[in-house]
This record gives sequence, structure tokens and C-alpha cells, in this order.
Amino acid sequence: MNPASPSNPRTHVEPVAWRDGALWLFDQRLLPAVERHVECTTSAAVVEAIGTMVVRGAPAIGIAGAYAMVLAAREAWQRDGTRWREIWQADVTAIREARPTAVNLAWAVARMLETAAGVATGDPEPALLARAQALHADDLAANHRMGRLGAALIAPASVIMTHCNAGALATAGHGTALGVIRDAHAAGCVREVFATETRPWLQGARLTAWELAREGIPVRLVTDGAAAHVMRTQGVSWVIVGADRVAANGDVANKIGTYALAIAARAHGARMMVVAPLSTFDPATPDGDAIHIEERTAEEVTMIGGQRHAPPGVGAYNPVFDVTPAHLIDVLVTEAGIIERPDRARLAMLATGR
Ligand code: MRU
Repeated sequence: MNPASPSNPRTHVEPVAWRDGALWLFDQRLLPAVERHVECTTSAAVVEAIGTMVVRGAPAIGIAGAYAMVLAAREAWQRDGTRWREIWQADVTAIREARPTAVNLAWAVARMLETAAGVATGDPEPALLARAQALHADDLAANHRMGRLGAALIAPASVIMTHCNAGALATAGHGTALGVIRDAHAAGCVREVFATETRPWLQGARLTAWELAREGIPVRLVTDGAAAHVMRTQGVSWVIVGADRVAANGDVANKIGTYALAIAARAHGARMMVVAPLSTFDPATPDGDAIHIEERTAEEVTMIGGQRHAPPGVGAYNPVFDVTPAHLIDVLVTEAGIIERPDRARLAMLATGR
């Protein structure tokens, strides 16, 4: 993983890019202070980048995982062209398990394995690269479609709350929740966005606020604990978030704090919108209880900016996702259409319509 500047810097947000045979990731650990790209030339470097949150957000880690599969195949092929399938197995497992909650990663690995199975002879890299690039392009197209569908539900002068970062940085571009907010703003329907800061990693403060402010979309930060008060006093009409996994019954895993926002939204008459591409839907997971919730280090909670603020000897419990039950979700937006009041039957219809 080599930190460097890309040869072709771009002004738009591009969290994942394939250039000159390598994967370039926009380092999300350093924003907004530093805009830097990291070059990955091995699958192990991509696995490390996913684990350390250089790249984050469910669709973005899925796309990074797809390109990691290309790098893993290249490494295995260069070691032994006759045994590459056997050699790349360990890397495939490491890629799939780089982070557990976002199903997009396992989904992307499965799509890449389908392509690998179709490679009869010769170097697998061209076919795998073409598939990774297609998954990348499909995600961008899905975001634009979801943006249009979701924005059509937003009335003029709406006040919107969003949580974590479900923006261009978390996807191939445009974003899921922020894609809806971008399109609603372009249609003149957004009075203001309240972005929750999203402790402990501060995706809202560092990433969502950065994305919205640089496009002139009015945004104010609130602490996570202020959310219910803001809903009660500031006329919030929608809470719009992304997802890491949607179970077969419509339960949604997303950034820790989403569940509390959904409860508060229901109590205050705000509507809850979850925006997620089909790559985030997991029909094999029956409900939210079956979703593996990632826990990260205590230091993410006990320290801020490298300084410990908790008393010595006090530890922390740090689950980084939670599950919002389907009954608290008003609208689920996918690229295949909108599902109001999602439940198992409505999601099954979506699956058959794929
Ligand atoms: O830990 P993160 O930053 O990867 O968590 C990201 C989220 O929870 C997002 O809301 C989700 O992945 C959807 S991104 C379009």
C-alpha cells in the first residue's frame, strides 16, 4: 500500500479507481485535512486498506474487494499458471472476510468467482478486470437511479437528517443516501441537512459534511446525542441513511446509531428512508438477529486524535453497526424501485423481479 498522489488527480470524488494496473483508494482516514490517494498493487494491501478504513462504506468496499480479486488472480497466475485457482483460495477468503457486516463484499467476491469459473484457459486477469469494472460502473448507475427515485419523494423546503457517510465516498460515486439528497437539492427541495457527527469514527463530521459543503448543499453538524432534540425542534421531515445489509424480512444493518434515529424519527413524525442497491440485499440472512455486527477496538472510543480521554483502566464496547427493524422503516429505495413499509413479502417480490 503506497501513499502517493495519483498521476491523474481529479476534482470529483472518486474513492476507488483502477489506473495503470493498480487500485487507487482515496484515503478516508485523513479527510478533510488531507486529500491523499493510496496505491494498492497486491490483494493483501487492499484487505489491509479495507480493515483500516482507508476505503469504507458498503458499496465501496465491495468494489475494492472486486479489484482485490483481480490482484489476487494476477499474483497467483504469476506464481503458477497451472495452479492459480488453488493458490488464490487463501486470498479470496481474506478478501471476503476483510470486514463482516457489509454484505456487498461477499456479494462482489461471489460475482468475481462466477467470472473466474468461466475462465477455461489462460490468464484470468482480463476477464476478472472486465467484471470488476462492470460492477464498478453498475454501482454508479444504481446510485443515480436511486437518487432520482428517492428525490421524487422529497417535498420542497424539506429538512433532512442523515447519519454516517452514505455518499460518493462510500460508493462508486454520487452516493446512496447522499445521492437522494444531492438530487433533491438539485430539484430545489432541500432547505437544510443535519449531519450527525457519527461517533466514534466521525464519518458524518469528516466525510458527509465535506461532501455536502463542497457542493454548496446547506449542512449543519449535530452531535449524535442531539438528534432527537433536533427532530423535535427543527422540523426534520426525513431521516435518510444507507445500509450495510438488508435481511430477507427488511431489517437493516447500518452504522451504529441508525436504530436510535429510527425510533426517534417514528416518535417525532419524521419519515425513515433507507437507500441501498440490490448488492446490499441478503436474502440468505433471514432477519436482523442473524447479521454479524462488527466490533472494533476500544481505542476508537477511549481515544480522540491519538489522546486518551477515558480514565485509565476503563475499557469500551464498540459495536460499529446496529439493526433497525423493518417496521421502523417507511421507505426502502433500490435501483429496482421503491418499497414502502418493507417486509418479508415485499422484499421477496423484489428478489423475484431481479
Ligand atoms: O464503518 P463504515 O464507515 O464502513 O460504515 C458505513 C455505513 O454504515 C454506511 O451507512 C453504509 O455502508 C452505506 S454506504 C452507501
